[in-house]
Amino acid sequence: MLAVAAVSQNADDPLSGLDVGEQPAPDVPDGWTTVSIRAATLNHHDLFSLRGVGLPADRLPMILGCDAAGVSADGDEVIVHAVIGDPAAGGGDETLDPRRTLLSELYPGTLAEAVAVPRRNLVPKPPALSFEEAACLPTAWLTAYRMVVHRSALPAAGGGTLLVQGAGGGVSTAAIILGKAAGHTVLVTSRDAAKRERALKIGADEAFEPGARLPVRVDAVIETVGAATWGHSLRSLRPGGRIVCSGTTTGANPPAELNRLFFLQLSVVGSTMGTRDELAELAAFIDRTGVRPLVNDVRPLADARASFAKLVRGDVFGKLVLTV
Ligand SMILES: NC(=O)c1ccc[n+]([C@@H]2O[C@H](COP(=O)([O-])OP(=O)(O)OC[C@H]3O[C@@H](n4cnc5c(N)ncnc54)[C@H](OP(=O)(O)O)[C@@H]3O)[C@@H](O)[C@H]2O)c1
Repeated sequence: MLAVAAVSQNADDPLSGLDVGEQPAPDVPDGWTTVSIRAATLNHHDLFSLRGVGLPADRLPMILGCDAAGVSADGDEVIVHAVIGDPAAGGGDETLDPRRTLLSELYPGTLAEAVAVPRRNLVPKPPALSFEEAACLPTAWLTAYRMVVHRSALPAAGGGTLLVQGAGGGVSTAAIILGKAAGHTVLVTSRDAAKRERALKIGADEAFEPGARLPVRVDAVIETVGAATWGHSLRSLRPGGRIVCSGTTTGANPPAELNRLFFLQLSVVGSTMGTRDELAELAAFIDRTGVRPLVNDVRPLADARASFAKLVRGDVFGKLVLTV
């Protein structure tokens, strides 16, 4: 079958190990099933794998990709949950299973004509969502949903104030759209004036340069940028506020500023992906509210190299979709 695979790894030139060509169809263990993929989307995770981060070289060649939507062996339209894990081993949450793995880490990923997953990893696709839109949900959107809805401690009924750092990112754009749909005031920062403008267009209430003094102290910060914005995130919180962190694009070890942490009684919580049930909740939330994932561009799977080049350049606002 046609697939996009990592065949070698290079930290400085990730695209040198990218192969768009024939790969064997995946094995289907007991309790697993196959999905015919209609659309898949790219994530930084795919670039990390090509750079040799998180994917041991002895697993190559590895079909890349965490996100997909398609048609199940039973003919149902489905979204593919990317976390392979046992909820029982994580106290009811497969993301807390110490042996959890994401598609394309141990098992072949979604940038292919077909993917094999445990049956429980299939989530019904709302008919109103296109395959392209549905394929945006399993990683960046699920991560943002868990952060905004479950980890931020913002009021479920809305009315909270949220700061999203690095407005142009895949997780950040999802957090802006979801934060507004959940009824919160959303402030954003971005280095780029054009991205600040676009963030306002997708619903942000106010947009600032990184490090700017905000007009209000916020209840929660969505933090994926890491070292470059960490100090500003701490300074922007009200007493008792909370940073929710799921990424560290610019570095993982900023000064902790523990004095600010204890004196203002701040909380810092981590968040990674989400559960199968949260993916189903997210699909229902999107169906109910009418918000839609932001698609940056759509290309056929055979043109994956061009989409990867765009991701490497950082020339992205929203998700890069590949169709089968
Ligand atoms: N834990 C999880 O489950 C999970 C899931 C998905 C992603 N992630 C992680 O979350 C991070 C973001 O992912 P993404 O897909 O949203 O990435 P992305 O689309 O590349 O976004 C990263 C954003 O970071 C900002 N940024 C980059 N360099 C910066 C700098 N030097 N100073 C200030 N801001 C900077 C940029 O914002 P502006 O250009 O707007 O300033 C950019 O839009 C990645 O590290 C990824 O690995 C984690």
